[in-house]
Amino acid sequence: MNQPARLAVFLSGNGSNAEQIFSHFTNYPTITVALVLSNNPGAFGLQRAQKFNIQTKAFNKNQFYESGVVLNWLKEEQITHIVLAGFLWMIPQSLIQAYPKHIINIHPALLPKFGGKGMYGSKVHAGVKAAGETKTGITIHEVNEKYDEGKIIFQARCEVLPEDTPDSIAKKVQALEHSHYPVEIERWVKQ
Ligand code: GAR
Repeated sequence: MNQPARLAVFLSGNGSNAEQIFSHFTNYPTITVALVLSNNPGAFGLQRAQKFNIQTKAFNKNQFYESGVVLNWLKEEQITHIVLAGFLWMIPQSLIQAYPKHIINIHPALLPKFGGKGMYGSKVHAGVKAAGETKTGITIHEVNEKYDEGKIIFQARCEVLPEDTPDSIAKKVQALEHSHYPVEIERWVKQ
């Protein structure tokens, strides 16, 4: 019998992956998305969460990196696992220590390629195109103190055709993200 899990989802923008996660775990017996947090109070992903009646909070740099406010919110809500879904700030050491092996991220490429600081969204797909790659994909990985370098949990691939553009690559990758991330989160939480 698995212990009930309470997830916090961190996002910075659109939140299309987050929405897939909210939907997947609606009425799920042992896994609840309890809190959605963002560094960006205007993030569309927060509105998506509110439609699912999930509590949302926005925070600033001081609350995240200095004062411990965000960590306190997570403790108050008895969060057991943290999921990053398009979250663009580096996770502070204090959070990694409070949730060892309990934070995961999704990256829109096949790490270790096209990762690292500054590599997000369209920049990743433009890099893939410029490098002439014939395949790209998604990587789901544990978060440690080094950007995009935690243990890889899952990868899925798609083809990059000569006629593909960064935009068309983004669409293929996003489809992979949406179909795999919720299921892989479920598997990871239950392991
Ligand atoms: C996703 O493609 C995710 O992989 C990427 O941001 C996008 C967020 O989209 N994350 C990174 O690039 C992290 N380095 P969404 O807000 O619509 O889910």
